[in-house]
Amino acid sequence: MSTQPKPSATLKAVRGTRDLLPPETALWNRVESIARSVFARYGFGEIRTPIFEDTQLFARGVGEETDIVSKEMYTWDDRDRFDERRLRERWLEMYARDEYIGSRSNVKAGSAEIDLVAERRGVFEGQDVLITELVEFKPEVRQFDVDRLTAAVNHFKASTGKEHILGKLVVPEKRNTASSVKELQHGIFIEQLTGEFFLQSQRITLRPENTAGVVRAYIEHNLGDSGQLQKLFYIGPQFRRERPQRGRYRQFWQIGAEVLGPVSSGSESPLRDAEVLEMLASFLDELGIKGWRLELNSVGSAEDRKRYVDILRQALAPIKHQLCLDNQRRADTNPLRVLDSKEAADQALIDALPKIADYLDESSRQHFAQVCAALDACGVAYTVNPRLVRGLDYYTRTTFEFTVPSSGDAASGLGTQNALLGGGRYDGLSEMLGGPKAPGIGFAIGEDRLILTLQAQASADSAKYVSYLMHAYIAPIGAHNNAAALALAQELRNGESRFRVEVGDGSFRLKKSFEMASKVASTIVIVGDDELTSNNFTVKTFLTGNQTKINKTELAAYIRNQSSVPNDPEWAQDFFKSQ
Ligand code: HAM
Repeated sequence: MSTQPKPSATLKAVRGTRDLLPPETALWNRVESIARSVFARYGFGEIRTPIFEDTQLFARGVGEETDIVSKEMYTWDDRDRFDERRLRERWLEMYARDEYIGSRSNVKAGSAEIDLVAERRGVFEGQDVLITELVEFKPEVRQFDVDRLTAAVNHFKASTGKEHILGKLVVPEKRNTASSVKELQHGIFIEQLTGEFFLQSQRITLRPENTAGVVRAYIEHNLGDSGQLQKLFYIGPQFRRERPQRGRYRQFWQIGAEVLGPVSSGSESPLRDAEVLEMLASFLDELGIKGWRLELNSVGSAEDRKRYVDILRQALAPIKHQLCLDNQRRADTNPLRVLDSKEAADQALIDALPKIADYLDESSRQHFAQVCAALDACGVAYTVNPRLVRGLDYYTRTTFEFTVPSSGDAASGLGTQNALLGGGRYDGLSEMLGGPKAPGIGFAIGEDRLILTLQAQASADSAKYVSYLMHAYIAPIGAHNNAAALALAQELRNGESRFRVEVGDGSFRLKKSFEMASKVASTIVIVGDDELTSNNFTVKTFLTGNQTKINKTELAAYIRNQSSVPNDPEWAQDFFKSQ
C-alpha cells in the first residue's frame, strides 16, 4: 500500500464564475474604454454602487415574483448589527422627553463630533443650574470613546466658559462587560439602557442588476434636488444563480447606464429613449459588432400594464393547461413572463394572446410613436416586437433588447443567449423605493456576451495581429548579460520610444529565445558580448524574416519601423476598425 498522502483535490473557480486572463483582458479594457468615450460624448458620468445591497431593494425594485428575485439571488443573513438610532430614540423617550430644554445633533466639539448636545435644568453641587450634556450612543464601553468624550467635555468647558458640562456615554446593557461602568469615569457618566438595540440581522444580496442600486443612490443622495437630468453609467459584476452555459454565468459583467430625474428635467421625454437607443447603436457600430438588431416595444404605463395583465390572465385561464409547467406557473404568478417564453411547443398559443399594443392609453401610444419617429430621424433601424415585456417588474412604456443572430456571418457565438443587452423605461421605480417621482430609462449590456460576439466575429488575421503584442523581445546571451539586457529594455520601455518590451534570460539557448520571442513580439534584439562591445545589436523582424545589425543610436527608430504593432496604446482600435 502506498504511504504517499493522497494529493488533495485542486481548487477551481466556483461553477458559473471564471477568470479573465490576458490577452483577452486587453479586449475587455478596450471595450470598456470605447464605452467610456462614447458615454462621455452623450454627457454620462460614472457611478459605482456597492456590490451588495439590502435584499429589500431588489425585492421591492425588481419584483418578488420575477425569476431573478424568486430564484436567482445570492442572499445571506448578515451578523447582528448595532442600531444606534433605536438606542437614541429609546433614551430620548425614557429620559429626555420633558427634562430637556433643547438638543442638537452631531455637534462639532474640537476634533470630535458629538451625537447629541442637550440642555436641562438640574442640581449641581447643591445649586439649581443649567447643565449642558454631551451625549454619545455607543454599542459598548470602550476606553477610546471614554477618552474622546472626556476631551470633548474639556474642550467645551474651555471654549464656552461654562462650568456645568457633563459627558454621558449611553450604551445598551446587554453588550456591556464590566458592572462597574456606572461610576463616574474621568468626569463621564456611563448610562446603561435595557432593551433590544440590535437588529437580529440584515438580509443582504449580491446585486443581480444595477438599476435598483442606482435609483437607491439617486434617492439617498437627493440627486433630484439639482433639478437636472442625471445621466449615470456603470461597469461592474452582477450575480445571478442561473444554470451556467455559454454566454450565461453566475458572475457576469454589465456595462449599463441610466437617465433619470424629476419630470421638470425632461426625464419623461421620448427624446431620452431615442437618445439612449441611438447611443447604443453608435456604440455597437464603433465596436464593430456586425448584424445587431434592435427590438422595441411599449408595455405602457403602470395602469395600462395592470389592465393588460388582467386581460392576459383571462385569456390564459382557458388555455393554461395546454402550456408547459413553467408557463402554467407564470400564468398564475406573473402572466407577462409567458410572453417571452422560448418554449417551442407553446409558441402558437402565445402568439394568439392579446397584444399589449392594443391596450395602451393615448399618452403611452403617443410616447411610443415619438420614440419611433426620433429613431427614424436618426436612421436607427428597429423591429417592433409586441412580445418583448422583459423580466423585471419596474418597466413602464419603452422596453428594448439588442440581439445578434446565433448563426451566419455575423454570428454572436452566444448559442441561445442572443440578447446582448436589454433595457427600458422605469417611471415608477423611484417611488417604489420610497423616493420622489423620478422617471427614467436605462439599459445594461452583457459585457461577457459582447466580448464573445466580438471574438466570434473577429477574423483569423486580426487574431494574429492581437498576438503581436510586444514591439521587441530582448534576448541576453549568457547570464552575465542579463543586467545589460534589462537596462536596454528599461530604456526602450521608458525612454522616448515607450515600447512594449519583453526580456528573456541569458540562460536560454538562442533557439529557445527565438521561439519565445516569435510568440510574443514582432522583433528580437540580441544582447551578446559582441553587441555590447560594438554597440551594434542584431535585430530580427519576424513578419519579414529580416535580420540585420543596428547601432544603438538607431535601434528605437529601426524597431518602430519594423514593428507590426503600431506604437499606440490604442492599437486595438485598428484591430476593431479592420473588422
Ligand atoms: P437584464 O435583461 O436582466 O436587464 O440584463 C441585461 C443584460 O445582461 C442581458 O441582456 C444580458 O446580456 C446580460 N446578462 C443577464 N444575465 C446574464 C448572465 N447570467 N450571464 C451573462 N450575461 C447576462 C437588467 O439587468 C436591467 N438592469 C437593465 C436596465 C437598466 N433596465 C433599465 N436600466
